[in-house]
Amino acid sequence: MRNLKNILVTGGCGFIGVNFIRLLFKHTPEFSGRIINLDALTYAGNITSLQEIEKEFGIDSGSTVRYFFELGDICDRQRLEGIFDKYDIDTVVNFAAESHVDRSILGPETFVKTNVMGTFALLDVARRHWQLDAEDSSGPLPVSADAEYIPGVIFHHVSTDEVYGSLGEAGFFTETTPYDPRSPYSASKAASDHLVMAWHHTYGLPVTLSNCSNNFGPFQFPEKLIPLMIINMMEGKPLPVYGDGKNIRDWLYVEDHGRALWAILSKGQLGEKYNVGGENEMENVAIIDELIKIVADKSGMDPEKIRRTIRFVKDRPGHDRRYAIDCSRIKEELGWERETSFEEGLIKTVEWYRDNMTWINRIRSGEYRYWVEENYGRR
Ligand code: NAD
Ligand code: DAU
Repeated sequence: MRNLKNILVTGGCGFIGVNFIRLLFKHTPEFSGRIINLDALTYAGNITSLQEIEKEFGIDSGSTVRYFFELGDICDRQRLEGIFDKYDIDTVVNFAAESHVDRSILGPETFVKTNVMGTFALLDVARRHWQLDAEDSSGPLPVSADAEYIPGVIFHHVSTDEVYGSLGEAGFFTETTPYDPRSPYSASKAASDHLVMAWHHTYGLPVTLSNCSNNFGPFQFPEKLIPLMIINMMEGKPLPVYGDGKNIRDWLYVEDHGRALWAILSKGQLGEKYNVGGENEMENVAIIDELIKIVADKSGMDPEKIRRTIRFVKDRPGHDRRYAIDCSRIKEELGWERETSFEEGLIKTVEWYRDNMTWINRIRSGEYRYWVEENYGRR
């Protein structure tokens, strides 16, 4: 088990980052280190999602500070250098990205900037610090999974199953499936994955990489299928289904993704990649059906009335048909298992959105961005 002391989490104010930080502080007793959350607070970053963590572990907590927030862009090398020096970073978990496929179709440039150039900048700064530490340590670097302490920096890159392309009716993505990205988003993530592995093979930077399927759960920005549908159902608004609604995704509750990341960080083989998935393939229309039942049950609404708000709309250009993950490697090698069933996860998610209207309304009104404006002016 590696002893991770100063973890730089990038994009920690986004959906998966928030859940990951909460998981480490609240439900991972083996973790005793510090988290430095570097986030540019784009439209997808919401600092209010971490208020509770800030209170308990941040600078005003009144006890040992274990959580730090830094506003900054992963493309900004100078900023990165300063953070690596200031906090003596030994672990990077790179969540920061533009993550929404529809937005990548409308405006691909920021995807290339953040996902490709940002990952490049982060890798290069991590490499410099890793080499400096290597010069300070005596003897060769123990790049091994069971080494108790590895000098320098371990770099974990959080990626997606979308890099593998689209499946037909049969088959699964494995870690050796050739990359075949189809959207600007997945192409930019594929490029970043290649950079990560190149930094390992060429320079020896200790890296790990994970390719995960569709996540769902609390704190997800309501542009993605599941939160969008829940909120629209609760408010009697139309439910837009792209194409015939039979596209298939493999869904995983976000906390289980966080647990997988923790397993890889603490004992994953360096230089290797791990697929992570829910072993839970669902057509979009089947998910909407499940959600209708749960929302109706939790709110006393008439399920038939909700069903009548379904609208089949124009398809997403280049819409990938099916994703399915073979995650036997992480299960067999690291003992990771999904803990939350899809049904249980969906119920928790519906309840969370029902009980967190303030969070939703802050996003809709733009109020969640006030913190940035108050502290840094309008951007
Ligand atoms: P998100 O869009 O909810 O959050 C992204 C976060 O990154 C935000 O807080 C944003 O402010 C920050 N960010 C964006 N550009 C930045 C920059 N240049 N510098 C610093 N911070 C920046 O995304 P998410 O759904 O939490 O996804 C996180 C990561 O996981 C992404 O890399 C994504 O590709 C990957 N992933 C997501 C899923 C999923 O289902 N959501 C599945 C597999 C992998
Ligand atoms: O597979 C992992 C990926 O999952 C991540 O890498 C991405 O960051 C994440 O956004 C997600 O991508 P998808 O495109 O699969 O997720 P999204 O929620 O946008 O869409 C899920 C499916 O639902 C997809 O087939 C498109 C469809 N859809 C989506 C929306 C927003 C609709 O039918 N209607 C909608 O309004």
